[in-house]
Amino acid sequence: SYQRTFAMLKPGVLQRRISGDIISRIDRKGLKILALKMMVIDKPLAERHYAEHQDKPFFTELVSYMTSGPVLAMVLAGEHAVHQLRVLCGPTNPDQAPPGTIRGDFSEIMNRNVIHASDSPESAEREIGLFFTDQEIHEYEDDN
Ligand code: CMP
Repeated sequence: SYQRTFAMLKPGVLQRRISGDIISRIDRKGLKILALKMMVIDKPLAERHYAEHQDKPFFTELVSYMTSGPVLAMVLAGEHAVHQLRVLCGPTNPDQAPPGTIRGDFSEIMNRNVIHASDSPESAEREIGLFFTDQEIHEYEDDN
């Protein structure tokens, strides 16, 4: 089924000049970019985005890292987009991410795993709502 998903290229990606490579993988896979913006996220937004992790030991470090520099937030769409994007990313822990996946190729440690990808269609819609207004999301036909 056609789904939307939310992706975020984390701080460090722009500094390392790997944003194009990552976006290229998303393009080649056939996921459609409906929205994309560069932003520095503030603490309240980072805390809301990662609310499910608020009791985890890594939460404080996660929030401070995610607010430490610019990110690229994206809305992507396609058939099974949530799952497809997660396959492209590979496992959350870069130690377990195989070569050929975004995390396998570009990251070494859990706290710097390059990209966030929604884990379900429900989280995708929640996260999209935190980062984008409806006016910022553009539906368009594929062949033009
Ligand atoms: P992300 O998909 O952005 O969601 C939460 C982030 O917390 C995760 O990627 C990791 O970068 C980070 N993190 C740090 N430690 C852990 C852990 N033990 N389990 C899951 N995520 C972790």
